[in-house]
Amino acid sequence: MPGYELINNKEYLECRDVLKKSKTFFRMGFEKNRKGIFKVLEFEKKFCNYFAAKNCLAVTSGTAALRVGIASLNLKPGDEIITQAFTFVATVEAIVETKCKPVCANIDETLNLDPKDLEKKINKKTKAVIVVHMLGVPGKLDLIKKICNKYKLFLIEDTAWGCGGKFRNKFLGTIGDIGTFSFDHAKAITTGEGGMVVFKDRNNFLRGKAWHDHGHENNPNFPRWEDTRKLSGFNFRMNELQGAIGIAQLKKLNFIIKSQRKNYYLIWKHIKSLKGIAQRPYSKQSYISADALVVLVKNKKLAINCRKKLLKFGVSTKILPEAYSWHFAGLWSHITEFNKKNFRKSLKKSEELLRRAVSIPILVNMNKKQILNIKKALSSALISTK
Ligand SMILES: Cc1ncc(COP(=O)(O)O)c(C=O)c1O
Repeated sequence: MPGYELINNKEYLECRDVLKKSKTFFRMGFEKNRKGIFKVLEFEKKFCNYFAAKNCLAVTSGTAALRVGIASLNLKPGDEIITQAFTFVATVEAIVETKCKPVCANIDETLNLDPKDLEKKINKKTKAVIVVHMLGVPGKLDLIKKICNKYKLFLIEDTAWGCGGKFRNKFLGTIGDIGTFSFDHAKAITTGEGGMVVFKDRNNFLRGKAWHDHGHENNPNFPRWEDTRKLSGFNFRMNELQGAIGIAQLKKLNFIIKSQRKNYYLIWKHIKSLKGIAQRPYSKQSYISADALVVLVKNKKLAINCRKKLLKFGVSTKILPEAYSWHFAGLWSHITEFNKKNFRKSLKKSEELLRRAVSIPILVNMNKKQILNIKKALSSALISTK
């Protein structure tokens, strides 16, 4: 979660262009005032360039990115979208907002979507799959893509936690039909709040772009107030200050991922000899973004004790175990689509895995003492939990 760790003069200078020169916060128009400065557009272009993608659309959040991405697919109310039991509630909220039906499949030992359970959940109403690269580890994209191709389903990659990670040398978020990113405060790069949608298909991009802007087609033959439209939409436009910060943050992404990976492997080297912890597995084709190092312990009691000890040693945890209820779909009875008797039971395998997971946050700036404290905390938890 390091984007915020690196905020410095670079972000300030980008924002100064907006505040002192263009004095325009709106992402388009006002050409007479803005002195050629279009920060959101520039951020989108640079994002496309970095990720080797063709169609990038900046939006107001990662949740909005999912909503816009789904809107671009022309699905009908009642169509089903399958996602995974371990994600943030936003993934499911975005599906519900589109009037599609959310369906949750179990995760496997990688803590990402289990391709076998995914295939079991597919029926005639299924139209799309959202794989979530949770906490920096890519989902099993080979198998999941194959399944999506077999059943002609759209594949959306929720890359909120995988920005800068790769699978088979391709950036996460650029492999499926649509990739969505979050730039909230906790993510690899941040614009405060913000997100990006990456579209493979040009027509989906144009539909999503119009939808995120009340249906505006930005028809060059008309002024904005007489603009043409075919579909209704909403407002999820990113503003120029967010775009400015995004430009500065994107330049730091290489360094962020390199540092996170370095710290991830250093921590693992220190703790791997501890008896009673196992590393969350991931496939050899993965280039993890290393947002967190997740370890599995024998039971829930030990997982909670690990958190207590980590806190005592000034380290803390990230999502697991403390924010479990916001990230395990089996507990979301407040979402009426899920409010069924056997829903939680059907996700028992996921619950069993998640209850004994401990997620250690990775920062860009970590010193030897912090790393040794992680080892001390975990060994103390392992010794003191019966
Ligand atoms: C997996 C996942 N998807 C989507 C989001 C939503 O992102 P945002 O906070 O930018 O709306 C989050 C946020 O943490 C997330 O973890």
